[in-house]
Amino acid sequence: MNRPTSAPITYRPATTTDIAAEHRVFSNAEGDLLRRHGFAWSDPPLDAVAPTLGHLLDHDPGRCFVAETGGEIVGFTAAFVRGDRWFLAALFVDPATQGRGIGRTLFGLAFEGAPRRRITITDSIQPVSNALYGRHGLLPATPMLGFVGTGVQPAAVAGLENVTVADETLAALDEQAYGFDRAADHMFWARQALRTAWSREGQPVAVSYAWPSGRIGPILGLDGASAADALRMELRANPTGWIEIPGTSWALVEAALAARMRLDAPPGLLLLGDGQQAPTSLAISSYFLF
Ligand SMILES: CC(C)(COP(=O)(O)OP(=O)(O)OC[C@H]1O[C@@H](n2cnc3c(N)ncnc32)[C@H](O)[C@@H]1OP(=O)(O)O)[C@@H](O)C(=O)NCCC(=O)NCCS
Repeated sequence: MNRPTSAPITYRPATTTDIAAEHRVFSNAEGDLLRRHGFAWSDPPLDAVAPTLGHLLDHDPGRCFVAETGGEIVGFTAAFVRGDRWFLAALFVDPATQGRGIGRTLFGLAFEGAPRRRITITDSIQPVSNALYGRHGLLPATPMLGFVGTGVQPAAVAGLENVTVADETLAALDEQAYGFDRAADHMFWARQALRTAWSREGQPVAVSYAWPSGRIGPILGLDGASAADALRMELRANPTGWIEIPGTSWALVEAALAARMRLDAPPGLLLLGDGQQAPTSLAISSYFLF
């Protein structure tokens, strides 16, 4: 759609009634970016995105905004704060209105008063967002590697048992894998995905989630080796599953490659601020929720 470049842009807090429009903007913006670079893209169904956008609005309504012109939503952003961390979950502007300062303004709204420790995940092929975030101290720390299973089933991991997980265990795994508390997100993930806790010699060592879509993640390990063992067990149950792993989670990357998973393209980038360490025992839940 061609809009007059002089049409005023207005900004307001997002509400749940905006979710369908946010899904449209996301599909248009991400699809345009990937197709321009020759990568395949198909719009996700609204149902695949709406629960996550709703979860962000439920917990951090003060960090979710939309941009409108002529009564139509043309951009949106969402971020969350957990403890002393700020995570930018989404920033998308419709291709027809890009390059007019909408992305910069939306970013500023979600960023205002953010705690010092900041995190986001970007597309590596997107110079605009990577430069915008870089100017706010968010710098690339490691690639985000997508892997797709090819049907190879790893051998069972000896000594790893499936157990019931206690809240304290989840908190300890959060601290080790993410570096901050994800209690609110575990409740969200567990409503839709199958959560499995793994123990060795009676000690819980990892938690993993398996989704009806085939996604595996997040996987949180007390250490990289335990997270990798959890991935092997998830791939035994679903050898064509798919997962996104920070490049610094070496044991998980090695396990994915050993299981003959295919590396998906293009990679993402994990951006960190304030000297934070990149994760070593984590596979993420999604680009929207880290
Ligand atoms: C990334 C996106 C949100 C930016 O929104 P936008 O409204 O087009 O961007 P803006 O007009 O606000 O410009 C942002 C800044 O990037 C700068 N910029 C543009 N290209 C740049 C480049 N190659 N290198 C450095 N800076 C660049 C602009 O000059 C501007 O900075 P300024 O305001 O200080 O001049 C939007 O382009 C988009 O949705 N893209 C597709 C989806 C996507 O990649 N989303 C981000 C997911 S991480």
